[in-house]
Amino acid sequence: MATDKQFSAFTGYETEGDIGVNSTGNPTMAEIVAARLSRRHVIQGAAAVATASFASGYPVWAAKADMPQSTFDFVEIEAGQDQTHHVAAGHEVEVLLRWGDPLFPDAAPFDPEHQTPDRQRRQFGYNSDFVGYLPIDGSSEHGLLVVNHEYTNKELMFRGIGLKDFDKMTREHVDVEMAAHGGSVVEIERRDGTWAPVLTSRYNRRITAETPIEISGPAAGHDRLKTSADPAGRHVRGMINNCAGGVTPWGTWLSCEENFNGYFLGKLPQGHRESGNYKRYGVGNTAYAWGRFHDRFDLAKEPNEANRFGWVVEIDPFDPDSTPRKRTALGRTKHEGAAGILARDGRYVIYLGDDERFDYVYKFVTADPVNSTDRATNRDLLDRGTLYVARYDADGKGAWLPLVHGEGPLVAANGFLSQADVLIETRRAADLLGATRMDRPEDVEADPISGRVYVMLTNNTKRQPDQVDAANPRANNSFGHIIEMTPDAGDHAGLSFSWDILLRCGDPSRQEVGATFSAETTRNGWFGMPDNCAIDGRGRLWVATDGNSLPATGRADGIWAIETSGDARGTSKHFFRVPAGAEMCGPFFTPNDESFFLAVQHPGESEDDTASYDSPATRWPDFKDNMPPRPSVLVVTRRGGGKIG
Ligand code: FEO
Ligand code: CA
Ligand code: CA
Ligand code: CA
Repeated sequence: MATDKQFSAFTGYETEGDIGVNSTGNPTMAEIVAARLSRRHVIQGAAAVATASFASGYPVWAAKADMPQSTFDFVEIEAGQDQTHHVAAGHEVEVLLRWGDPLFPDAAPFDPEHQTPDRQRRQFGYNSDFVGYLPIDGSSEHGLLVVNHEYTNKELMFRGIGLKDFDKMTREHVDVEMAAHGGSVVEIERRDGTWAPVLTSRYNRRITAETPIEISGPAAGHDRLKTSADPAGRHVRGMINNCAGGVTPWGTWLSCEENFNGYFLGKLPQGHRESGNYKRYGVGNTAYAWGRFHDRFDLAKEPNEANRFGWVVEIDPFDPDSTPRKRTALGRTKHEGAAGILARDGRYVIYLGDDERFDYVYKFVTADPVNSTDRATNRDLLDRGTLYVARYDADGKGAWLPLVHGEGPLVAANGFLSQADVLIETRRAADLLGATRMDRPEDVEADPISGRVYVMLTNNTKRQPDQVDAANPRANNSFGHIIEMTPDAGDHAGLSFSWDILLRCGDPSRQEVGATFSAETTRNGWFGMPDNCAIDGRGRLWVATDGNSLPATGRADGIWAIETSGDARGTSKHFFRVPAGAEMCGPFFTPNDESFFLAVQHPGESEDDTASYDSPATRWPDFKDNMPPRPSVLVVTRRGGGKIG
């Protein structure tokens, strides 16, 4: 979620990226060089000093033959912002799926003036975030696209409804919103070089905030998950605020509930047992009017409902009749991605971030190995295993601390009567274990070739000088950083790792920011606020950002491609940027790296929150007077073919 604008007016979430653009005097060239170099680049940096020059007060770094050269073969774009998207020259961008596009032969064409819940349930949803591609028969040109629809912008979806117009929301508006949440499965195919959805596909499917979902794993059936509609505590309707995610080697989609806390109206009854639990997750003070029409989103009427959200949902896109499952073994947090990797012994390891200032990085290790020959055997693999939380030590080592009931502080004396309690209150359990408080962990991705794991830490302007630590080294961290972890002995299932900071983000020409992009990184190549990410077949990192803006960084969000090894490590190049008001989501490569899926989320928002249905910041991607901006999934390919980058 971008600047949390949907929540900011109601929950005290703060808009990020509010650092002023004035720098405190001009630093010396030596200071600039020192500030921008990571410790791996100190030697090259000394040589770079001689090649640097100022233009308009900005350092320009001329590429020289003796400098480490980037392995990316595209010419980067200019950082900036306007009404549309931009991609590096020589690439095609196709708008593959827009909010409201029909997903079935009988679906109504999109008509924003006459949208209904029934129509929306048969159309592509709003605000796509995670995008995954599951090949059919191993193809990189025919497969299933799985897409999260994280949240809705009512002020851009409905005429006459402002950002804070709770009272004007009707039941019809709310039900459109609920139908625009969730996710989509869409069969897509590339013919004659052009990608298109297959509307007649038997796989196409919408999952919404009303779809029946099973609760599975250790917390299923627990009293704290029981409601009047579900006295068994095993069946919930819908998934909400599904942000990032992952796909598994057995061909399922992991869709992760993030800011689930912002959907619940009202207050718990006085002295209710969930009061402390809900406070830790910020439940209440909703930005949505759902609780006015649906009792389950009213805490006073259905106090346990919020415990049924905040989970990782596993969906089998190859079985359109399958019931999605909330896998409670993976914990309850404001989940980001769920990218996994096979451990040496064949067990599956899923890395997880919990996106909140001062929250944690987790991993889940299955109890049993993945069965690579019998897909059905893996059906409930994610119901059994161990959840761990990360502690980053100052010496560059780290430990995975198990969240297991009965071990250490996770006992009855601390209110944990079972593993279900540990999972329902994952955050409090991790607090007691002494996990490292991080600067908003977003996507975490493992490179299957190098075995390295990359953690996007988006920012944390609340960190005070006396709260910095080795893994979160900047107070008032406005621009975020990226940590690289290497499991000890190459064992992702193991209990220890080493770590390093790949990049401290932000403008490297401003000494006080302390950014560490390589000296080859240009004024277009740096970025702030890393969020989602993908790793290409050469182990290079492609980062999608959330929170760059003209006031914060003088640039829109987008994709930056980063060298992770060799002399050019830490060099970043700008590949793609979004239209005004949007944040960048996706990204995901086809197996052959020739198609690159991106999502443009909430285009048309404005920085001062004044954008509306009639006055959006852009009408991308249709640019028609009667058409609001439409969050969309794009696919980028190279003109003439070949691998991206
Ligand atoms: Fe939905 Fe943490 O971004
Ligand atoms: Ca995001
Ligand atoms: Ca995110
Ligand atoms: Ca990812």
